[in-house]
Amino acid sequence: MTALRPLILAAAVSSGAAAAADLEAGRQRAAQACAVCHGAYGIANAPDAPNLAGQPAFYVASQLRAYRNGSRRHEVMAVISRTLTDDDINNLAAWYAAIRIEAHPPGK
Ligand code: HEC
Repeated sequence: MTALRPLILAAAVSSGAAAAADLEAGRQRAAQACAVCHGAYGIANAPDAPNLAGQPAFYVASQLRAYRNGSRRHEVMAVISRTLTDDDINNLAAWYAAIRIEAHPPGK
């Protein structure tokens, strides 16, 4: 029985990791596929691209699904979102949500 314990623990840990979003996978995917427009840390480089840093994961994921299913329309994001699996979307959303931003009112 004691010999089984590490196995059970390992199974519990890995199933937990499968359910939770994978921040590192999100960071890598974002670097490859999103950073050119949305910036390395989610502060956009392209003037027509929105900032994603610090956006709630729920919002980013729901917008990516909306582009993917066509309920939100945009030529570029439609093409990009169709390359993303549900896991990719969850990982990307977790990555952008984890980036910490600060807001300063004008003049402060
Ligand atoms: C070629 C430039 C480009 C690339 C690459 C790109 N995006 Fe975008 N993204 C845009 C533009 C432009 C918009 C604004 C679209 C609109 O008006 O709906 C946008 C919008 C979004 C939005 C909606 C944000 C909001 O505030 O509603 C999300 C989320 C998003 N992109 C995520 C991603 C992710 C994740 C990737 C990588 C997998 C990615 N984008 C790659 C240009 C890009």
